[in-house]
Amino acid sequence: MPGPGMEYIGEEEKKEVLDVINSGYLFRYGDSSNPSFKAKVWTLEKEFSEYAGSRYALAVTSGTAALLTALQGLGIGPGDEVIVPGYSFVASISAIVYSRAVPVLAEIDKTLNLSAADIEKKISSRTKAIMAVHMLGNACRMDEIMEVAGKYSIPVIEDTAQACGGSYKGKKLGSIGRAGAYSFNIYKTMTSGDGGMVATDNEEIYKRCFAFHDQGHTPNRQGVEIGNRSMLGLDFRMNELTGAVALAQLRKLEAVLRHLREIKKVFKNGIAALKNIEFRELPDPEGECATVLTIILPTREIAENVGERLGAKVLLNSGWHVYRNMEQLLQKRTSDSKSCPFNCPYYGRDVKYEKGMLPQTEDILSRSLNLSVGLRDKGIGAAWGLGPKDMVGDAEKKAEEFVDMMKDLLK
Ligand SMILES: Cc1ncc(COP(=O)(O)O)c(C=O)c1O
Repeated sequence: MPGPGMEYIGEEEKKEVLDVINSGYLFRYGDSSNPSFKAKVWTLEKEFSEYAGSRYALAVTSGTAALLTALQGLGIGPGDEVIVPGYSFVASISAIVYSRAVPVLAEIDKTLNLSAADIEKKISSRTKAIMAVHMLGNACRMDEIMEVAGKYSIPVIEDTAQACGGSYKGKKLGSIGRAGAYSFNIYKTMTSGDGGMVATDNEEIYKRCFAFHDQGHTPNRQGVEIGNRSMLGLDFRMNELTGAVALAQLRKLEAVLRHLREIKKVFKNGIAALKNIEFRELPDPEGECATVLTIILPTREIAENVGERLGAKVLLNSGWHVYRNMEQLLQKRTSDSKSCPFNCPYYGRDVKYEKGMLPQTEDILSRSLNLSVGLRDKGIGAAWGLGPKDMVGDAEKKAEEFVDMMKDLLK
């Protein structure tokens, strides 16, 4: 089952897409003097940057492309280390590897996000970025992370793929660090099938990101192109059809999140009286995306029993979101095993990725389960719970059902 954005696709998206088809312009660039050209991608970028509170926003083809572009924007490359939590989707790590940099895995804490205390232990003279991943719709402890980053003058990239629209102390997630990366795949708060966004306040980073995502061009290919391209880039451009869907989705995102927060609150209150159940720590409960309700049980055994009754996996077993389940990472299998990043001459030391290397992460994840609220995704361990269009009454009933199912186990 897809995420909340997908379930709210409707007339607005159809209208935007038809607009593009009728215009005859599918490419993000068009004749701006021709009123037929609708400039959906450009409009999306403008509205997104206002929404996210970042000076610049750059639309790309996916969240993975957004991460890779952001890393390139920051100039991350061979010999560099990037600190990343051991609990994240594999793409956070792949984007670092394909920047030819070395991912250094760090622990999570009970926010289920990167532990600021562990970042400090993982910093070396080669650390060139910290990737703070806002997992499952909730903020990292950004004050603590920004403080450690500031102490060592290391930029923070926020992987906001799972938390587009969330906020922390009044700031939108993705706008707090040097750059933010977002995903619009079908499991996310807003979707365009695939797609992504990079956001930053820094003009230089924006220009580098733009050039990287569009064959070295200056923003919007304005100014002289030939003879003036700053670098070799690639093509991660968003097209107008994707931009049209994303634009309609962005315009309804706040309403979708408001609804999810409302039903989640009722669901959570309804099960809070159960004994031996703890909730994931939320650094800013007001700003959560509320796509899942994560519970933490006292032991792995109890968590597995609860999971069995729900038909759900504990988070430790939730596929490619946990480093120990990323067999390609454990075996360092990349497209270029002979050189970068692991055998990179600039790097010159051996890094190992082994099961058990992040004991705190494994302990927390082995005792954690997701109840779905707006996101039903077995892959992240959210197999049971509410759908994004369920109402307060459904949340009350689901909570009662949960209490009934678990009362002999969680007493
Ligand atoms: C934390 C995280 N980062 C990055 C990505 C990659 O996004 P995409 O699938 O759009 O490439 C995802 C996608 O699930 C994600 O969850």
